[in-house]
Amino acid sequence: MINAVSIGIHDIAFATTHYVLDLDDLARHRGVDPAKYHLGLGQDAMSIPAADEDIVTMAAAAAAPILQLHGTDNLRTVLLATETAVDQSKAAALYLHPLLNLPSTTRIVELKQACYAATAALQFAIGLITRNPADQVLIIAADIARYDLDSPGEPTQGAAAVAMLVTADPAILQLDSPSGVYSDDIMDFWRPNHRSTAVVDGELSVRTYLTATSQAWADYRNNGGRQLDEFSAFCYHLPYTAMARKAHKHLLETLGIEWPNDRIAAVVDAGTRYNRTIGNSYTASLYLSLLSLLDHSSELSGRAVAFFSYGSGCVSECFSGTIRPGYRQHLRTADNQHQIAARTPISYPRYRAVHTEHANPCIADCYFDQDTAGPYRLTEIVNDKRRYQKI
Ligand code: COA
Repeated sequence: MINAVSIGIHDIAFATTHYVLDLDDLARHRGVDPAKYHLGLGQDAMSIPAADEDIVTMAAAAAAPILQLHGTDNLRTVLLATETAVDQSKAAALYLHPLLNLPSTTRIVELKQACYAATAALQFAIGLITRNPADQVLIIAADIARYDLDSPGEPTQGAAAVAMLVTADPAILQLDSPSGVYSDDIMDFWRPNHRSTAVVDGELSVRTYLTATSQAWADYRNNGGRQLDEFSAFCYHLPYTAMARKAHKHLLETLGIEWPNDRIAAVVDAGTRYNRTIGNSYTASLYLSLLSLLDHSSELSGRAVAFFSYGSGCVSECFSGTIRPGYRQHLRTADNQHQIAARTPISYPRYRAVHTEHANPCIADCYFDQDTAGPYRLTEIVNDKRRYQKI
């Protein structure tokens, strides 16, 4: 079953940070076998923001190529999903107004529910476009995953923003109507207002993720969703990429299905390549997985893809879509790969210093020297007003 009006992702782009930390470095300094990170967690590196980068600079960099290509004439709504908010009241996407020349005739709002919020944004966008198919919605999922130094979560940190233009008659992915949801009040991962890093019960979060995934799938099927064997690929929320195989295995077990490991790898691994080197990007991670799938798979035209979104706390959603014929012409594969390769390696001592600086937010006036080579930067916070600059 599909939406009466064909709605989905018309364009998708991403941005990450200036710095990268190789997890071999982290393993050496922590006295951990690097295989734990590479094989156990499925992570090779993590993106680290420069002192003058945050979710706004990444969001602007992700959205800019989309707006340059499509303009803003039909853009009516901008939804920025994040759990790394820079303000308790003002929506971060409002800072994009001058940076991206957004029209004043747009509604702008920020959404939060741990790593799930971008999926809520996608569902809200479908509703808006169903009401008026001429409207376009820009969704930006942007997060910096930051855990305490020396904690179990530390090797799974990372940062990225994924921007998606959602329209009628989309060029890349047409979304199906059925959706399966699951929610419960669980204290597996949260970040109280006074903290810059998350509080996490890692083991509980993994268990809850797996339960929520199979429950969301059951609800998806109960609402008329496709059968498992109709899918060519599965994109999972990726706090670390080993989670994709783990979650798929769990889903199969709950359905009483047995697949060899190489068959599981064939349907999930292409969607993990970018996440493996960028790290967790919370609500952006599922959509980074889609980007990875699009950039690393052989022809997907007409193929169905399943998506599993999970946000601790917890909300989970399973939904699906079909890749549109000719989608490859709309990808930015070379740019995406260049951006990842162009990150600057950061030394371990400098990484710890940057982490500590971020953990102590600016409470007096702060001025930031230029650190990033990215297209947008945070220049100052004066009288609690953030100021950004297009470089
Ligand atoms: N070689 C290969 N694999 C190794 C290894 C080695 N030398 N040492 C450990 N591993 C494997 C473990 O067997 C384990 O595999 P499994 O998940 O299949 O059981 C995996 O590496 C992780 O090891 P573990 O000891 O469980 O890691 P940890 O206690 O250090 O923490 C998390 C793992 C995920 C709990 C931790 O990174 C965390 O808290 N992350 C943040 C929260 C999160 O990502 N939650 C996920 C749901 S949202």
